[in-house]
Amino acid sequence: MTQFEQDQFNYTEHIQTDNLLNSQKLVSPHPEEMLFVIIHQVFELWFKQLLHDTGRTIDLLENNDLAQATWLISRMARILGVADSQLGVLEMLSAADFQEFRPYLESSSGLQSRQFRDFEVLSGLAETAGESYAAWAERLWPGIIASHPKTMHQAFLAAVERSGLPIIEVYQNRWDHFQLFSLYEACIEMDRALASWRHNHIQMVKRMIGGQTKGTGGTFVEKYLEPTLKYRFFPELWDVRHDLTTAAGGTVSN
Ligand code: HEM
Repeated sequence: MTQFEQDQFNYTEHIQTDNLLNSQKLVSPHPEEMLFVIIHQVFELWFKQLLHDTGRTIDLLENNDLAQATWLISRMARILGVADSQLGVLEMLSAADFQEFRPYLESSSGLQSRQFRDFEVLSGLAETAGESYAAWAERLWPGIIASHPKTMHQAFLAAVERSGLPIIEVYQNRWDHFQLFSLYEACIEMDRALASWRHNHIQMVKRMIGGQTKGTGGTFVEKYLEPTLKYRFFPELWDVRHDLTTAAGGTVSN
C-alpha cells in the first residue's frame, strides 16, 4: 500500500465516509429531494455536536470552570449561526419543486427530530418555557424530561448563585466581573442565535408551503411554530435588560 492509500484508508475509516455517503435514501424520483435530505442530515449532525457540547458545558459549569464553559457556549452560538445561514440554501429549493415531492414525505417532519428536542430539554426549556412545553415534549417523547436530570439552565443558575452577585450587578460592574459578564453574554448570544434560527425557519416554511398550511407533522405555523419564538434557555438574562432600563429611569410595560 502506498502512503497515500494508507492515509486515504485512515481518513475513510475515521470519518466513516462510506456510511455517511450511503445514508441518503430518497423516497421520490424528484432530483431536488437530494438537497432536502442532505440539509436535514447536516442539521442532525450539528444537533449531535450541540448535544455533546451542552452536556460538557453542564459539567464545566458545575465544576465552576467558567472560562471553558464560556468558550463552549460561544461556539454553540456560532454553530447555531451556521445552521441558521444554511436555511438560505434550502430557500433555493423552489416552492413548486418542493410540492412535487412533498406527498412522498407522508407524515415525516422536523418535529420528529429527537435530537432537537433533547437539545431543548437538556438546555432547560422544560423549566423555562412553562408547563405546556413540558407536557408537549413528554407527549412526543415519553420520559424525555427524566432522561435529562441535569440541565444547562440549572447549572447556570447554580453558578450565578455561587458567585454571590445579582446578575444586574455583574452588568453594572462588568469589567470587575469580566468572567461572569463574558459567560452571561455568551449565554444570551446562544439564545439569540436559536431564536434567529426559529424565526428564519418560520419564514422559510411560509415561503415554501404558506403560513396557513398544515405541516406534514400535523401542526399549523401560526398556532405551533410562531409561539416558539418566545422560548429562551436563559430568561433571567433577558429580564435583566428590563432591570437595567428601569435602573436608568426608563419605562417597561408590565
Ligand atoms: C422545505 C423545508 C421545510 C419545511 C416546509 C418545514 C416545515 C416545518 C413545519 C410545518 C413544522 C411544524 C411541524 C409540522 O407540522 O410539520 C416544522 C417543524 C420543525 N422543523 Fe421544519 N421545515 C423545513 C425544513 C427544516 C429543516 C432543514 C430542519 C432542520 C433540521 C427543520 C427542523 C424542524 C424542527 C426541529 C421542527 C420542530 C420545531 C419545534 O418543535 O419547535 N425543518 N417544520
